[in-house]
Amino acid sequence: MIMNTPEKDNEEILKQQSLLFRQIYKSQKWWQNIIDAITDYLFVIDQEYKILRTNKAFANLFDKEPPDIIMKPYYELFDLTGPHEWATFPKDKEDIEPKSLEREMNGSIYFISSFPIYFDEHDATVYIMKDITETRRLKDQVYHLDKLSSLGTLTSGVAHEINNPLTGIIGYTEMLLMKNNDDANKKYLQHIYDSAIRCKKIVENMLTFSRQNNAEKSIEKVNDLIDKTVELHEYWLKSTNIRIIRDYGDVPSISIDRQQFQQVILNLLINAEHAISERNIKGEIIFRTSYREDTGRVNIIVTDNGPGIPPDVLAKIFDPFFTTKPVNKGTGLGLSITHGIIAEQGGTIEVESIMGKGTSFIINLPRS
Ligand SMILES: Nc1ncnc2c1ncn2[C@@H]1O[C@H](COP(=O)(O)OP(=O)(O)O)[C@@H](O)[C@H]1O
Ligand SMILES: [Mg+2]
Repeated sequence: MIMNTPEKDNEEILKQQSLLFRQIYKSQKWWQNIIDAITDYLFVIDQEYKILRTNKAFANLFDKEPPDIIMKPYYELFDLTGPHEWATFPKDKEDIEPKSLEREMNGSIYFISSFPIYFDEHDATVYIMKDITETRRLKDQVYHLDKLSSLGTLTSGVAHEINNPLTGIIGYTEMLLMKNNDDANKKYLQHIYDSAIRCKKIVENMLTFSRQNNAEKSIEKVNDLIDKTVELHEYWLKSTNIRIIRDYGDVPSISIDRQQFQQVILNLLINAEHAISERNIKGEIIFRTSYREDTGRVNIIVTDNGPGIPPDVLAKIFDPFFTTKPVNKGTGLGLSITHGIIAEQGGTIEVESIMGKGTSFIINLPRS
């Protein structure tokens, strides 16, 4: 029979203890690794608000590591002299319900959940803070977009309502203009007529932008339609020292909404005119059209000899509401409407610009 000496016994116990300590250490390390893997901010406090446990994310929030903040009152990290109103320890031991609330702290919004733990005399509360700043921002954005879309519906409704009485005003004013021979009256009537036409244009723009007017396609001759649009604007062009050059190819008729197409040409024409007016030169706007039989596509190029578009501006010109013009001159909607109309037709619009030389807008449309 082998008997252990007392020394031998002691050695064995020490060995076992050290093994146990190693196991506890490993197990603690294992749990610490697990809570460090959580990206939400986690901390556990005792009844005196001292941090018993925490994860890396929470410590890092204050540029520290978990061991640096253990046993410190948590509120000192927030530069406070006492606990937050949400961090009160439940007095009532029956109160074991987890709680959640939202708070704004240091410019971020947090969703904070608390879980009381009763374990022998080691009563504690676990807090988990989730940064919801970005989620909240996206939610607000969706809400804003939703509002914009209902605004669009509202706008098109109002625009349709205004259109009818406006047609009456324009019609009757035209009639009076024809019947009236008094020059003074004619002048006033002309004012009414011009203003009503302006309102009509605004309403049409609103309808096009909210895209709720039904496109009515018809077979149109491209070159003729450009001519008619330029004519609409010619009275104005005469006073601006701008020459219009037509370089038309043999282009077949295409199926298109006449009003929308005119709006595209007018937008490009007015932009070209604005650009030219920035330079003290003899302005030139060239309309080029061509047709390629093999692809069945029509090309329309509008070129001006304005100042050109700087690269940083170029990237934004098709964005709605982007404008470099003063409020009374630009809305920033022209090119975004134009882009929308062309895309709806299955076409494309591109821009080429050379600083100091001018700008070309290139439209490519399918024949049908
Ligand atoms: N032909 C052009 N030459 C120079 N800049 C142009 C030209 N066409 C458009 N732009 C630029 O693109 C911007 C957006 O044009 P647009 O959408 O028509 O809005 P708006 O004309 O109301 O400003 C203009 O403010 C201008 O800076
Ligand atoms: Mg414009």
